[in-house]
Amino acid sequence: MSLLPHEIQPEEVRALSARFESASLEEILRWTWERFGTRAAIGTSFQGAGLVMLHHAVRAGFNFRVFSLDTQLLFPETYELRSRLEEFFGIQIEMLLPDQTPEEQAAELGVELWESKPDLCCTLRKVVPLQRKLEQHAVWMTGVRRQQSETRDGVGILELYHFDVLRDRYILKLNPMAGWTREAVWEHMKQHGIPYNPLQDQGYRSIGCWPCTRATKAGEHERAGRWTGFDKAECGIHTFLGASI
Ligand code: ADX
Ligand code: SF4
Repeated sequence: MSLLPHEIQPEEVRALSARFESASLEEILRWTWERFGTRAAIGTSFQGAGLVMLHHAVRAGFNFRVFSLDTQLLFPETYELRSRLEEFFGIQIEMLLPDQTPEEQAAELGVELWESKPDLCCTLRKVVPLQRKLEQHAVWMTGVRRQQSETRDGVGILELYHFDVLRDRYILKLNPMAGWTREAVWEHMKQHGIPYNPLQDQGYRSIGCWPCTRATKAGEHERAGRWTGFDKAECGIHTFLGASI
């Protein structure tokens, strides 16, 4: 069930978020597990920061549900990585599908919608399935980092959103990796032998759907390989909620 209005007040969220700035990752995860248990869920794109968070959670025995938005347009390497991660962590990762297959979408809205209307494509294949999922949870845990891009440099560790105005529903978004650097994430990944996407070794530093992802060049920021040629930096899952309160 999503978060009800009386469960937490904006002032408490702000105070916790400030406190979490100097807390360890495990402390933040412990607070979340003790207060919300499986009403908190990790959304993963199978990339570094999210996996470091998942590793800390599994190691500490916090059995958060884990899900991934399967656009059905991910790289074969990404699907294969999902199986390796399930084995490595001994968990199940739920794959959330859009309403239409890529073929059905092409028949109704045109072939290669990502070329003509990428925002619509992302809304149908990522945002709508995510919204549906968030209705079942009180806390959405992400691997967003401030260092990733300008669009992310102001994220808080704990944010409260009035997620569904008509039904007065709220969601807490937890970004415990917000302050982590790319280097720190990779150091942890390597140290613990956590499986990662082999495309990383071919210069792909941010990996999404195959039609909208390319390798980055030296000097480019790490998300520069996403939606090349479009004035688009976000798929929408981190922007559809509007302003945090
Ligand atoms: S994205 O928005 O451009 O795809 P990025 O790959 O940097 O984001 O990931 C940032 C965080 O967004 C991830 O740590 C994860 O929490 C969430 N996220 C991104 N893509 C997905 C996905 N396909 N499924 C679930 N969560 C995702
Ligand atoms: Fe469609 Fe590209 Fe968005 Fe994937 S990233 S949902 S292919 S527009």
